[in-house]
Amino acid sequence: MFDLAIIGGGPAGYVAAQRAGEAGLKVVLFEKGNLGGVCLNEGCIPTKALLYCAKMYSHAKGSEKFGVKAEGVSYDYSDMQKRKTRVVRRLVGGVKASMKAYSVEVVNAIATLAEREGEGFLVTAGEQSYQARKLLICSGSAASIPPIPGLKEGLESGVVLTNKELLDIQEVPQSLTIIGGGVIGTEFAALFSSLGTKVSVVEMAPKILGPMDGEISSLLQGIYAKRGVDFRLGCKVCGIEGNEVVYEDADGQQCRIAGDKILISVGRRARLDGLGLESMGVECGRGGIIVDEKMRTNIPGVYAAGDVTGFSMLAHTASREGEVAVNDILGIEDRMSYKAIPSVIYSNPEAAGVGVTEENAPEGSLVLKLPMTYSGRFMAENEQTDGICKIIADASSQVVIGAHILGNPCSEIIQSACIAIESGMTLDQLRKVVFPHPTVSEIIKETAWQKA
Ligand code: NAI
Repeated sequence: MFDLAIIGGGPAGYVAAQRAGEAGLKVVLFEKGNLGGVCLNEGCIPTKALLYCAKMYSHAKGSEKFGVKAEGVSYDYSDMQKRKTRVVRRLVGGVKASMKAYSVEVVNAIATLAEREGEGFLVTAGEQSYQARKLLICSGSAASIPPIPGLKEGLESGVVLTNKELLDIQEVPQSLTIIGGGVIGTEFAALFSSLGTKVSVVEMAPKILGPMDGEISSLLQGIYAKRGVDFRLGCKVCGIEGNEVVYEDADGQQCRIAGDKILISVGRRARLDGLGLESMGVECGRGGIIVDEKMRTNIPGVYAAGDVTGFSMLAHTASREGEVAVNDILGIEDRMSYKAIPSVIYSNPEAAGVGVTEENAPEGSLVLKLPMTYSGRFMAENEQTDGICKIIADASSQVVIGAHILGNPCSEIIQSACIAIESGMTLDQLRKVVFPHPTVSEIIKETAWQKA
């Protein structure tokens, strides 16, 4: 009998297995593919590896601005792909080694919840059955495929790709049409436009990057529009014919746009099928498995974490949710908080945000802003200077409730704003923190000194 059976070895499942193993629980983890899940194998890490190669190429091309003369700069996409594969393999190997270190039994098979048995649950995988006292479901998500006419045929013919297939293509397409200007659409627009592809983005909403702070997303869109990305906003895709995307524009006119490849990136859906959730009576809502703030489902002893809850769909949320579930199993008081979950777009420049945006902040909130050019370190290292830092605080208590940044390397410095928000810091408390100089992170402290 295992103490804990975990279904899915992505950032929710493997982190939960590490924490539970470290606490001395006997854990079995089921993973049908590679450990690391979508994040390590076909999401966060491989895209960041390719985006970094594209950034290196852009730096090399623009090196003259820094007094460096590089001639005949070019790239070899197959070498970029090889590097991406090496990075992924090494990290997957690391997760595998950590499972061994924590004595987690990894079963490489599809697991199905069978039934309750005695004081535990029965899970079947391959030809075997496994018994565990507690269950944690971390089966993740898959790209959502809406019922757009011609989409299924496009996917079959290979003209239309999801992010998974587009990550693995061996040749850079001459042109790419992206359906959906969300996180995935924007990161692929950033990647391929840097490599010379003619990129068009067809987005149904009036802005890219849905919930991201409007000023930041509009600045980022402007930067990429200047680099040649064709944004068609307020345009709903209604069909795919061969390599053409057919859409209705904001005035209701039918238009079309051709591309060598088409990326479909209109959101992700929780993976619920084939798990046997019905047989155990696990309650699901529209987005995924319903959980409380301790990641407990409606069935005592059954937990869910990560994208399968359909809630936040981010690797870092998933890992934290996995930890919360394990803590509850261990009897340690913990609960999931979503007030300081950072969100990052790994474009160049990067964009990052946490907490409320200027648009959804309560009326009268304080909004403090500074251009990134205020930072000495930022100026020393960047030629792309269209960036801002914005902090939002509650008007009466002055507690920090949001922070949004456009400019490199905001993915790394947003964390100080996350800590401020999660711990309920006021602007005054943030001003008293000593930041290292010269670093771009100082922009956060300096912004806190601005007048609303
Ligand atoms: P998303 O929800 O971010 O964006 C989908 C976009 O498609 C929306 O803007 C929506 O308005 C648009 N759309 C929907 N139907 C459409 C239609 N018929 N025609 C035109 N536009 C349409 O979803 P995305 O980009 O697929 O990403 C999925 C998830 O993956 C996100 O929730 C994100 O959390 C996660 N992710 C996170 C990353 C990060 O943190 N850097 C990177 C990649 C993915």
